[in-house]
Order: sequence, then C-alpha cells, then structure tokens
Amino acid sequence: MGVVENSKLTVVGAGSVGASLAYAALIRGSASEVALYDIAAAKVEAEVLDLAHGTQFTDARVSGGDDLAVVEGSHVVVVTAGAKQAPGQTRLELAETNARILERVLPSLLERAPDAVFVLVTNPVDVLTVVARQITGLPANRVFGSGTVLDTSRLRWLLARRAGVTTSSVHADIVGEHGDTEFPLWSNARIGPVPILDWRGGDPFTLAELDEIAHEVRNAAYTVIRGKGATNSAIGLAGARIVEAVLDDEHAVLPVSTVLSGLHGIDGVALSVPSLVGGDGAFPLEGVPFSPDEEALLRASAGAIRASLETLGR
Ligand code: 2OP
Repeated sequence: MGVVENSKLTVVGAGSVGASLAYAALIRGSASEVALYDIAAAKVEAEVLDLAHGTQFTDARVSGGDDLAVVEGSHVVVVTAGAKQAPGQTRLELAETNARILERVLPSLLERAPDAVFVLVTNPVDVLTVVARQITGLPANRVFGSGTVLDTSRLRWLLARRAGVTTSSVHADIVGEHGDTEFPLWSNARIGPVPILDWRGGDPFTLAELDEIAHEVRNAAYTVIRGKGATNSAIGLAGARIVEAVLDDEHAVLPVSTVLSGLHGIDGVALSVPSLVGGDGAFPLEGVPFSPDEEALLRASAGAIRASLETLGR
C-alpha cells in the first residue's frame, strides 16, 4: 500500500467523525502524515495515541494534540469540529452553534496553514461552507464542503445492491443540499453505460422504486443516528476520498459543495454538483445536463440553504 508522498492532512475535531476520518485516511494512505487537532487535550491525545499505536500496519505518520502548531505544514485541513445532530434534529438546526465555532477556529487555522485547501465536514455543511468562505476570504475552490459525496455513496450502494452489480459500476449522483432537499440526478444515472430506466440486467427499475431509494438516501443519516447516536464510518471514508483527490491532484469528479457564482442561476450559495477535485481544490463542472425538474429541485435546495444563511444574518 502506498501513501500520497509528502502530504499532510490535518483533521480538526477529535469527535467520532474526526477520529474516523483520520483512521480512514491512514488505512487508505490518503496522506503521508495525518494530524488530529482539537481543543480538548485529553480526548485528542488519546485519539492520537490510539491511531499511532496502529502505525506498524500503515505507511503514514500520525501526529496531533491541542496546540495549534499541529496544523502547520498542512496541505489539506478538514474541519469536523462542532455540535452533532440529536435524534430527529435536522442538520440546519445546528447552523448557529456551528457557525460560531467556525468564527473562533478558522482564522487561526488559516494563519497556521495559509496555503492549505480547506474542506468542511461539519453540518450544516453547505451553510457552513458559505460562512467559512466569508470568514477566510479564500476563493471558492479552496474552501469547499464534503457535500453529497456521502449521500452519493449511499445511493450507489442501494442501486448496486438492487441491480446485483458492483458499486463502482453505478454512475449516479445525489446533488443539492447535504440534507432534506437533496435529490438524485436521475436523468444522468447509469449502470455501466445503461440509463437507469433501461436497465435489463434483472427486473427493470420502476419510478416508484427510484422514489423509494431517493427517500431512503435522504433519511439514511436519521436512521443511523436513531440507532447509534451518530454517523461516523461512512463520512470518514468519504472525507478521506476527498482528501486524496486533492493531495494526489486527481481531478476526480465528486459531488462536493462549493459556493456557486451563477451556475444554474445560483449565486452566493454553496451546494453540491459534480465538481472537479484536485490540488487547487474544487471547481463545479459546467455542462452537466439537468432536466427542467432537476433544475427546479436544485433551485429549491438553494432556497433552503439561503433561508438558513439569512437567519444567521449572512
Ligand atoms: C450524515 O449524513 C449526519 O451529515 C451526516 O451522515
């Protein structure tokens, strides 16, 4: 197993998402150094020790602690710090608390890692991506959110299971808000080269079934939170995947959340559309075909995010 050479990832926040993301990055070899930073000294030191104890079995170096010096030299900083959803609570209900946390932490992170690409994972990720951009003044490509990369993985898993194919043969994306207004871009969804509604590798998909799958994806986090109090494993993997796309300058197409400037008629709001992710960060792809219904759903999603930003006075 190799690692992306001379690359440093710092994960901010040693809660269950931050620790899982660091663990996933170590195992995947997403970076040659994985650092974990948190203000809670005992917790972060314990998580760093626990990760470091496994380094015989990985190729990456582990560092971290509660001193901001940890962040220095980072090529990517992933922010997971903040309050998490209680059972039944929406992501948007976390906006005020977590925006305040970003106001406190982001200026010093930027001071310590002025050239890094910043990836927001904390929810509500789209709202906070806009807030982070305002706080840091960075260009939109250098401060973006994990968006619907996780939801897309959930969608592909459900479609793959139903069609009886491997997940990597499913090409379908969730776009919009990482939250209750997200939706699948069905007009582009394919299994191998076959449009989803033309699939005959088994029983054809019905429209009702596709609606049910979209509903299951939208509710996936609520289901997991009800059962175990939080989601952490899959977001850890999704975050590590985004990090390696940046550190390896992959130009991978991933549905991350960036502040849009006019694409689909949306301006100043961050949401997920298929984007190119590489060393300079994320750039929303132009030319992705949306049906008129999908355009309307995307604007509705932007409206929900904008309303939340307005309640924050932003
Ligand atoms: C998730 O979708 C809660 O945003 C988190 O798993």
